[in-house]
Amino acid sequence: METAFQVGSYKTTLINNRRYLGNKYKLLSFITDVVDAECTGVEVIADIFAGTGAVASAFADRRLITNDILYSNYICNFAWFGAQAYEPRKIIELIVYYNALFVDTRNYMTDNFSDTYFSRADCAKIGFIREDIERRCRRGELNRREQAILITSLLYAMDKIALTCGHYDAFRQGAEPDQPLELRVPLAPIENDPHNQCYNEDANNLVKRITADLVYIDPPYNSRQYCDAYHVLENVARWEKPEVFGVGRKMDRRGLKSRYCTRDASAAFETLVKDIRARYILLSYNNMAAKGNARSNAKISDEDILRILSARGKVKVFSADHKAFNAGQSAIRDNAERLFLCVCNKGEG
Ligand SMILES: C[S@@+](CC[C@H](N)C(=O)[O-])C[C@H]1O[C@@H](n2cnc3c(N)ncnc32)[C@H](O)[C@@H]1O
Repeated sequence: METAFQVGSYKTTLINNRRYLGNKYKLLSFITDVVDAECTGVEVIADIFAGTGAVASAFADRRLITNDILYSNYICNFAWFGAQAYEPRKIIELIVYYNALFVDTRNYMTDNFSDTYFSRADCAKIGFIREDIERRCRRGELNRREQAILITSLLYAMDKIALTCGHYDAFRQGAEPDQPLELRVPLAPIENDPHNQCYNEDANNLVKRITADLVYIDPPYNSRQYCDAYHVLENVARWEKPEVFGVGRKMDRRGLKSRYCTRDASAAFETLVKDIRARYILLSYNNMAAKGNARSNAKISDEDILRILSARGKVKVFSADHKAFNAGQSAIRDNAERLFLCVCNKGEG
């Protein structure tokens, strides 16, 4: 990144510098090793439950398609992988400006979130910055990628100071912030592959319209809805200023609920897999089938996974120690992190 100009000091951030349930950052070498060893000619990769985009980032040398049902993840994915170029100088100057600001005015954030996940002072600053990004977009000062990068920087900064245990089911009552809100400059490549595409929709709809060499599937495993865990980040990313309810200050999230967190998960997975057009399907799914408490139990059984994937081609299962198991072998049950690779039958999909 170009930094040979004087704008004041700033810190930078990388894609993995945030907390996110089920993110695969620590498993990247496991995933890339399996793809490198088992798949050939993979030029286009679709990460259709992309979350933070960590897995897509491991394949940034190829053409990427990313997708997530949450807009807050879409905006981060677009910041990191978007096909549009951006001017780093603009981002750096604004971040330095935002960090130096003292704001004490009322806004949507102070009215709705003061002294919950954030102090009133931090809410004033978050609300001001988010509004300022919109204002600058309306004036044509920022392109869509620059807007996404600035919002990403704000979301990452909020994550660092939120008075939570990493998700927004509840805040730590009476806790005091121990560090100020500080935006960092995301070190996003200035020019990504010009054919990269980022989507924000239900993966089951998207797969009907895209084609890739490999489709990576990392759905939620249990009944915990991501829109509940990250509603504040989603609210700030969307900036539609909805009414919020209850102690948790949650907005209406009906359109954001995932079928993969319900008893419908197997049926959703079955139609998804049927509709995928790719040579390889790679699934991450943990093995909490009926081991944890009811909330953490996996929604799709291993039997269903193997039956559904096998209908599309030959399936191999890998555990994080890189050992391959035969499909159906009981040992796979004892390995928490598994990858299911389906080499799709030729002429299908
Ligand atoms: C296990 S996380 C993915 C983590 C990701 N691989 C990473 O490394 O950060 C599952 C993701 O799927 C998203 N999601 C849930 N249901 C979805 C759906 N029907 N379509 C698209 N995305 C969905 C959630 O918002 C969440 O970000």
